[in-house]
Amino acid sequence: MGKQTKQIIQAPFVQDMIEVTQNMWRNGWDERNGGNVSYLIEEQQLQNYLDLNHVKRSIPLAFPVKTLANRYFIVTGSGKYFKNVAKDPEDTLAIVKVASDGQSVDLLWGLSNGGNPTSELPSHFMSHIARLEADDNHRVIIHTHTTNVIAMTFVHDLSAKAFTKTLWQMCTECVVVFPEGVALLPWMVPGTDKIGMETAQSMETHRLVVWPHHGIFGAGESIDDAFGLIETAEKAAQVYMLVASHQGGIKQTITDQELIDLAEAFHVTPNPNYI
Ligand code: 13P
Ligand code: ZN
Repeated sequence: MGKQTKQIIQAPFVQDMIEVTQNMWRNGWDERNGGNVSYLIEEQQLQNYLDLNHVKRSIPLAFPVKTLANRYFIVTGSGKYFKNVAKDPEDTLAIVKVASDGQSVDLLWGLSNGGNPTSELPSHFMSHIARLEADDNHRVIIHTHTTNVIAMTFVHDLSAKAFTKTLWQMCTECVVVFPEGVALLPWMVPGTDKIGMETAQSMETHRLVVWPHHGIFGAGESIDDAFGLIETAEKAAQVYMLVASHQGGIKQTITDQELIDLAEAFHVTPNPNYI
């Protein structure tokens, strides 16, 4: 391990990736190689750590992302276990620069034992494009296999309106944390351009997109922001799974008026399509 590599492991963006993947694995969300993270980083953040002209190899993209040309990302590798990121960040993570034609990425660091960036790169990159349109400060996309959100997609109505309303009702903070609600896609084969395009379309107006029987995508301005958002939805889904299967059933919940009062008190506007 060279001096430069030692230093880059101490970089805040690498430490953030180590911490978040470890937390997701400990939460039981990311079994085996489940889940992936991508984090948009600025050239200035990188230049103290890496020779940006030294390209290890070029990796072609099946979907062009011209809008992200010359942008840098740290991403998890495909098939890499979140359990192992802290032990070997240089094998499990990758720092890439999108080529100026948007047709490939240049690998600058990581994937030391070979491999590619996450197979969900189409969904990540297209979602970054959608979220950057909505929010200049957007930086992070996380995909994870949140246990209770997945469970809920087997027993709950899959309309975005009904699903969102239930999540809002399960924990008082939910409508404040994600007033725009959650989007849901139909079940689809993961890793494809199609699921990427549909996820990104939902990301134009939402920061949370549920993939039924698979997991969730969350967006944020930082790793903490994206993780906190997913954590909040997952907690609400956990409460739902506890109460929905309770022998006595649900006896009371947060009412629509109470949701409106909450939103007013915290100066947020709940998605009018969902309430
Ligand atoms: P990768 O290992 O390619 O990131 O895929 C994991 C996953 O969760 C697919 O949806
Ligand atoms: Zn997945």
